[in-house]
Amino acid sequence: MAIAFRRPGWSDAWQGGAVLAALGLAGCNRVQSALAPAGTEAALVAQMTWWMIAGGAAIWLAVIGAAVYAAHINPERHDLRFARRLILWAGAIVPAFVLGGLSAYGLAVMPSMRAPGDGLRIHVSGEQWWWRVTYRPDGAAVASANEIRLPAGERVELVLESPDVIHSLWIPSIAGKIDMIPGRTNRLVVEATKAGQYRGVCAEFCGTSHALMAFSVVVMPRQEFQAWLEREAEPAVRRDIAGEPGLARFLEAGCGACHAIRGTPADGAVGPDLTHVGGRLTLGAGILPNDADTLVRWIAATPSIKPGVRMPHFGMLPPESLRAIADYLESLE
Ligand code: CUA
Repeated sequence: MAIAFRRPGWSDAWQGGAVLAALGLAGCNRVQSALAPAGTEAALVAQMTWWMIAGGAAIWLAVIGAAVYAAHINPERHDLRFARRLILWAGAIVPAFVLGGLSAYGLAVMPSMRAPGDGLRIHVSGEQWWWRVTYRPDGAAVASANEIRLPAGERVELVLESPDVIHSLWIPSIAGKIDMIPGRTNRLVVEATKAGQYRGVCAEFCGTSHALMAFSVVVMPRQEFQAWLEREAEPAVRRDIAGEPGLARFLEAGCGACHAIRGTPADGAVGPDLTHVGGRLTLGAGILPNDADTLVRWIAATPSIKPGVRMPHFGMLPPESLRAIADYLESLE
């Protein structure tokens, strides 16, 4: 049997490059792309990225250009003095000049990215593997989870903490990233410029389900944001428990030991606050669509969907209980 081997040629290289570029571009969607900025800081980061690429390309051209010239263009006519000068300029002076310029530019941009806002502050804590989000519009804490809402055109300070391991909060479309370190408070100033929905992620390996730790970001016009925050601050339920089969089953199953629903006896603080869970864009910290069918599956088999999570399986509950709990939670908008 004859097997034909062929040396890879230029066309293979181009095809490989085209496939890689296509895969790379497929990853660029506008909800989570540092190259499609929707925030002042992200725009600075994107600008810096393009300058870094241009600077890197300039150094590459100088070094490779000099190497090709030295080796292939009349090499026998180059004397020692010329060779030294070529190495000095293309190998040292040009790269040092370009890198020095990039470094000065990066340092000059930094202060404006760290300037604190004097307005809204949102506390975000990285948990395993979800996000505790707390607004304090007038002192009193309004707890939420796995979704950050921002008013457009305002500088907002995100106050970042972690009770367990190091996480990192990153909303590529809006701003740069910063670590959340146990025992320390870090701050990230963001200014979203375009209303819309975006996606943030944990950018530091933090355990089994690190890759399943995302969140949605909703940027709203100021008035809409204000109205949303006022609604978010209210308790979800004012009806009595007897009239709510879903809530009764939620409490019977012990869910209230870990989750809070303001306005009901459920006041646990271990897991995400569920007071307005039905109004969020996703379930399970940015990984699932938020609807009743998905919520039934999530409650029944949380550790199978998100390995290592602290919430146990509740698959032993009768299907009608799961359905009642899911319907009830989805009604909490
Ligand atoms: Cu949290 Cu990775």
